[in-house]
Amino acid sequence: MRQVAHLHFYAKQGSPLLIATGENGIYLASAPSALVGKASHMVRLADGVVGVLEADRPLNLEKLGKLDSVPTDSQQGDKEGFKTYMEKEIYEQGRVLTLLGRLSPKGVSLELPEGFLEGVSCLSICACGTSYHAGLVGKYLIESLAGLKVQVELASEYRYAQPATLKGELFIAISQSGESADTLEALKLAKTLGLKTLGICNTQSSSMGALVDAMLLTHAGLERSVASTKAFASQVLVLWLLALQLANLGGTLEPQEEQAHLQALSTSLDTMQEALKAHTQIKDLSIQIAKRDLKGYFFMGRGVFYPLVLEGALKLKEIAYVHAQGYASAEMKHGPIALADSTLLSTTLLPQNLLFAKNLSNVEELSARDSLIFALSPLEVAPATFYLRTPPYPHYMNEFFYMLVLLQLFALEMAQLKGLDVDKPRNLAKSVTVE
Ligand code: AGP
Repeated sequence: MRQVAHLHFYAKQGSPLLIATGENGIYLASAPSALVGKASHMVRLADGVVGVLEADRPLNLEKLGKLDSVPTDSQQGDKEGFKTYMEKEIYEQGRVLTLLGRLSPKGVSLELPEGFLEGVSCLSICACGTSYHAGLVGKYLIESLAGLKVQVELASEYRYAQPATLKGELFIAISQSGESADTLEALKLAKTLGLKTLGICNTQSSSMGALVDAMLLTHAGLERSVASTKAFASQVLVLWLLALQLANLGGTLEPQEEQAHLQALSTSLDTMQEALKAHTQIKDLSIQIAKRDLKGYFFMGRGVFYPLVLEGALKLKEIAYVHAQGYASAEMKHGPIALADSTLLSTTLLPQNLLFAKNLSNVEELSARDSLIFALSPLEVAPATFYLRTPPYPHYMNEFFYMLVLLQLFALEMAQLKGLDVDKPRNLAKSVTVE
């Protein structure tokens, strides 16, 4: 009697499917991170591929497509002594993110095809979640530095819209995984509309990489925690570099302003390292805040700090499971302030280099209605219930990266105080490869 062989069927259509081989067998996975430490080589299957795997029958991977190596850096596979991947990834931002090769005393040089940015008249950016927030930061930077119009859209909306396009429009898709279904479909739509496409991605070989005309990798290393941290910081760095390269191309920046940005950029990684020293303060403040019976969390900021507070609110939502909402500070007056009372905490970013007085007046309005205030600022914020003094950096983008780390640590500590699974929050996936 012939032993019935174990058959495993696979079929790839739409969602990503990797097939890989390692010492202990053959693996199928939706993302390279699942293969770390298990397999050595992988193939990203193309749509329409079907097959069967038989026990004891060797598999010739190369027949299935282009061979890629699985990330093998063992360090990326473990927590290096941290309790969670998220804390490890917050801590390593200042160390693993890199500007090497893209920033020199001569300025910014991105590895794009010759002339790729020539003739760009406007940009549209599509992404989801945290990557969408990075895109919003990119809008502020590109518009203010390069004077080019930037439209930022949720990929899930763009893909079902009939987007108008303009001559010279550059479409940018941002994705940590390069596998988000909504972002991939938005990108495919942009291509059918004839737009030149640029990807910003943290994954060396991804479905997005196979679609774009050019790719800027963020090189943040493997991000294991579902809540994105270092990938967001690396996306903002790439967008900041892009804004400066576009500004240089268009001659739109005064030399001293350009130098101020280059100086701030060159110290941004140190800024993120510096912020880690405030972890104990964040932990203590989190303990005090967690003792309050709060019904909601507002996060408020202006300019590039507005998408930053959207990101801060998302972090708290996704790992501490609380109702948190980011707002452009002045928007408070147009309705949300009706929620202000002593069960509302408004976490407010008040950088000294961007609209401090305006932010302060918003804080005073909320405080006058008994909202609790958690203020992050280098300057005194009299109405604050909870206050963390941040360093008086000379540039608002240094303040941005410092406060980013504080907001990441705040979400981490609030979730850990509730004993929640920080790395694998309920209902979430690291890469949303379905609609
Ligand atoms: C981020 O903390 C979330 N896990 C989620 O919003 C994520 O940013 C979003 O799903 C987009 O993922 P992507 O960057 O891999 O496309």
